[in-house]
Amino acid sequence: MKPMHSIQELQQLVIDKLAEEASAIAITEPVNLYEPITYTLNMGGKRLRPAMLLMACDLFSGDIKNMLNAAVAVEVFHNFTLLHDDIMDHADIRRNQPAVHKKYNENVAILSGDAMSIMAYQYLLKINHPAIQEVTQLFSKTAMEVCEGQQYDMDFEHRQDVSIDEYLKMIRLKTAVLIAGSLKMGALLGGTDSDNADRLYRFGINMGLAFQLQDDLLDVFADQEKFGKKIGGDIVANKKTFLLLKALEIASPKQKQALQYWIEKDDFDPKEKIDAVRTIYTDLNLKEISEQLAETYYQKALNEIQAIEVASERKEPLILLAKTILKREH
Ligand code: IPE
Ligand code: IPE
Ligand code: MG
Ligand code: MG
Ligand code: MG
Repeated sequence: MKPMHSIQELQQLVIDKLAEEASAIAITEPVNLYEPITYTLNMGGKRLRPAMLLMACDLFSGDIKNMLNAAVAVEVFHNFTLLHDDIMDHADIRRNQPAVHKKYNENVAILSGDAMSIMAYQYLLKINHPAIQEVTQLFSKTAMEVCEGQQYDMDFEHRQDVSIDEYLKMIRLKTAVLIAGSLKMGALLGGTDSDNADRLYRFGINMGLAFQLQDDLLDVFADQEKFGKKIGGDIVANKKTFLLLKALEIASPKQKQALQYWIEKDDFDPKEKIDAVRTIYTDLNLKEISEQLAETYYQKALNEIQAIEVASERKEPLILLAKTILKREH
């Protein structure tokens, strides 16, 4: 067994490789297609998905250095989704900087995003590995599911009868499958069998659900500077988050009426709407309720990882990362 890498080592490998790729892209023409890609890749971000891919690979002592292109592929794909997501969500700030559609314009964000989704495949196919076809198929399936999740997210803005089960299906698709897919890709590239790869996939799905529950919570309650995104965007857009759906379920008739009023109102002061809805969430203890639900997914995730047949110390980086996801503030 090869010695394993720490989270910090893997993250540094990802950061260095992305910086290298970003500077290569920067000198490509046309400038208005490629410069926004460099801008995006140099904006930072937690680099969670590539780090998880490498951790999953390292769990089975895979050849990390040769898998960096797969790590870049999932991060470039993730960043592509952010460019389009920020147009769809009318979000102007990302990672504390202007979103691409604001810094440049919407057309640029659409086309640079498209180019990034193609680039993701180019990076993946640089890898020479017996499992690369299976990995690419998994990646394609995942990418399609993210689109499905995004469409449900959009559809739900205009629906008033969304159930919590439908919400969970939506976030599984838009968020959890990419985290799970990154882990399974790493596991397959690490050379493990499909049982272990599927355990990591289920670990990722459960962590992904916890991750998006936390994202929705932070969208209401975070410190904007730490979060890097504008607070309250989900409330303004009538996103059917767990917070809103659970609130509608447990609210008093008066609170429910107030929520309906804000959901239906077309012309409003955003700050006033955000403050009013946040107050109801706070009064209903929804922060704690949401955190408790995230905790149940975290426990399910831990059960999956415990069942994987490798020495327990090799699992430590993934377990540590799972804990930080649950407690994240950005
Ligand atoms: C943002 O993902 C999109 C969601 C799925 C909530 P991250 O929170 O991983 O974003 P960065 O890459 O760290 O900025
Ligand atoms: C993110 O959902 C899902 C994807 C980007 C695919 P959000 O819309 O909640 O993500 P943020 O909050 O803008 O990062
Ligand atoms: Mg968004
Ligand atoms: Mg969105
Ligand atoms: Mg969000």
